[in-house]
Amino acid sequence: MNELRKTLRSSLLGAVTFLCASVAWITAASAQPAPAAIQFDAVTHVFRIDAAENTYVLGINENGQLQTLYWGKRLAASDHLGAAKAMPGVSSFDLPVSTTPQEYVGWGGGLFVEPDLKVTFKDGNRDLVLKYVSHTVEADKLSIVMKDISREVYVTLDYRADAETGILRRSARISNRTDAPFTIEQVAAGTWNLPRGTDYRLRYLTGRWAAEWNVQEQLIRPGKTVLESRRGTTGSQNNPWFAIDHNTTSDQDEGGVWFGALGWSGSWQITIEQDMLQQVRVTGGSNAFDFGYVLKPEETFTTPTFYGGYSDHGIGDASRLMHRFEVDSLLPQHPTPKLRRVIYNSWEATAFNVDEAGQTALAEKAASIGVERFVMDDGWFGQRNTDHAGLGDWYVNPQKFPNGLKPLIDKVHSLNMDFGLWVEPEMVNADSDLYRKHPDWVLNFPGRPHTEARNQMVLNLARPDVRAYVFGFLDKLLNENDIAFLKWDYNRNWSEPGWPGIAHDAQKDVYVDFIRNFYSILAELRQKHPNVEIESCSGGGGRVDLGVMQYTDEVWPSDNTDAFDRLLIQNGFTYAYTPAVMMAWVTDSPTWVNQRSLSLEYRFLSSMQGSLGIGANLNKWSPTDLEKAKQMVAQYKSIRETVQRGALYRLITPDRDSEQSVTETVSRDGKQAVAFAFLHSSRELYPFPRILLRGLDESSIYRIRAFAGEVATDTPVQASGSYWMHHGVDVELRGDFQATAFTLTQTNE
Ligand code: GLA
Repeated sequence: MNELRKTLRSSLLGAVTFLCASVAWITAASAQPAPAAIQFDAVTHVFRIDAAENTYVLGINENGQLQTLYWGKRLAASDHLGAAKAMPGVSSFDLPVSTTPQEYVGWGGGLFVEPDLKVTFKDGNRDLVLKYVSHTVEADKLSIVMKDISREVYVTLDYRADAETGILRRSARISNRTDAPFTIEQVAAGTWNLPRGTDYRLRYLTGRWAAEWNVQEQLIRPGKTVLESRRGTTGSQNNPWFAIDHNTTSDQDEGGVWFGALGWSGSWQITIEQDMLQQVRVTGGSNAFDFGYVLKPEETFTTPTFYGGYSDHGIGDASRLMHRFEVDSLLPQHPTPKLRRVIYNSWEATAFNVDEAGQTALAEKAASIGVERFVMDDGWFGQRNTDHAGLGDWYVNPQKFPNGLKPLIDKVHSLNMDFGLWVEPEMVNADSDLYRKHPDWVLNFPGRPHTEARNQMVLNLARPDVRAYVFGFLDKLLNENDIAFLKWDYNRNWSEPGWPGIAHDAQKDVYVDFIRNFYSILAELRQKHPNVEIESCSGGGGRVDLGVMQYTDEVWPSDNTDAFDRLLIQNGFTYAYTPAVMMAWVTDSPTWVNQRSLSLEYRFLSSMQGSLGIGANLNKWSPTDLEKAKQMVAQYKSIRETVQRGALYRLITPDRDSEQSVTETVSRDGKQAVAFAFLHSSRELYPFPRILLRGLDESSIYRIRAFAGEVATDTPVQASGSYWMHHGVDVELRGDFQATAFTLTQTNE
């Protein structure tokens, strides 16, 4: 402990200097949010992070462990938490190492709760006990170094606070300064410890192909809930996001919510555990199943980032904080990512049957209704006439495009649209030149089957030669063609994840190196082609997470484009992710999904809650349909900034058997609000519930305008924010699958 005190004293000077600097920033800042402040109390050994409306406190306890002391609403500057003190154990069975809520704990010393780090050393030792060594504070970043009690294994915990939303970014760096490699068998970015309580409820997202983004709720009880993917990719079965609130709150905008998300597009796990003292901890990182990463001497392993936040205003506000954080601090080109263009995509219209004449005809129609980006989907390359062949052969199919892509691209440009293209770079069909030449490039175990899914196999992107090939063909494609957008697809998960040709004990590195190469290709392409935008798609929403979102401008939430199903899908999506990246196409009716018939207006209103696209066969649309579409696209452009940047309120959530749903979005400047109301099916003559708006300025005057369907005839033309929020609006909706949408615009009259 004396050793510890000495180190602490030497860190004090740095902390004091920083404090003075941060006080100056706070006085200087006015419109800007106050910068995050990080303080260290050298007497109590307590770190305090204040950002936006939140405070996070951790301390070094008498055992040198890092212990969470507080996570929640901002505390007064005068509030000081006492020194961290390890929790008592429970009898001889549960020692303090397990009962103490630690920020980062190695597996060792009798630990039974979920570890953050587990390693095996070459000499057979598997015990790892981490203790505080030192720390640094640099602006909004706190780094704390821990070390094993006897071996030269160092772990640096990084915390970065977002001044605007209070969201913390946490990650860990593990350094091997011993003279032999060791294997990391389990590794997390860190653990979030909640205040002790027994009435917690967990929300999380589940799904499958064409049915992604279901919001699940369950009470947290003793034991563990593991949210995970073992698929080599994010997956849609669980998404790496969680939110926990008290079971007593049911309103969207009330009560405390702790939430978080993992930025990793490989196999991942988030473990929510209520321990023997009814403490809840949430540990997140790489999936431990089949994991193994060999860390050589002098090497450092950096974990993915685990983001965490707190809102005192319910799950609705927790989502709004995530949306804001993603737009302002995470997406490429943050804090001012471009608004999404209205796109046309050919997939549902022409599937693999793309050619110059057919695409040109669609492009002309798309341009006539106001589309801004024309995207040709699958089918343009190699011998890709069905999903049985062609993946891996990224040359333009000469039968379909005898003069290359240039004539089509030129035509699209002449119609005032930019051009986008579908690719699936990490995959190969057995029937392809690439596989015939490089059968060893796929993930495989020698002598074992190469399991196919959608007739394709996964290339081992961890291999340097595969990485070079994938980057090379994409770079060439973008150099040779004027392409503004790539839809990057990924239509299966892993099987037989072997990496023959390298040392046996390093083969599991594939779980990490594959994803790192995926990110590095995206980063390098963006750097070389800064005007190209990219969409992350994985047969729908199978690769949406805060890792890939740092390199991609938008995502495809689901292949399910039924506008009614989409209400549920989009609702779930927005718990974690912003409508600014949520692509939503208007497709044909009846939909291929459910054979359900929906009016064109309904289909537009469903999609206009996200980033609008058209995915229908426009050749089948009547002149009246095209005229209606043109009006709706123009209308969308007038609300686009509000929908993509504003604050989203779920006024009535579309639950599985609900009769209605309503969303509202208020623009950042507060001058416009847009509301979408859907009647799923009316029963027994009940009128639609009155819509009570949120987020308006009570004393400003807003003018209402229905742009689809109608509001009740006795609705005033204009009224105060108070009126719209407390008296509310009636809409005239009867029947099945009906919808109305209106704007409220601030007026000075
Ligand atoms: C996936 C995508 C679709 C489409 C097809 C093409 O299923 O999610 O949107 O691009 O692949 O094969």
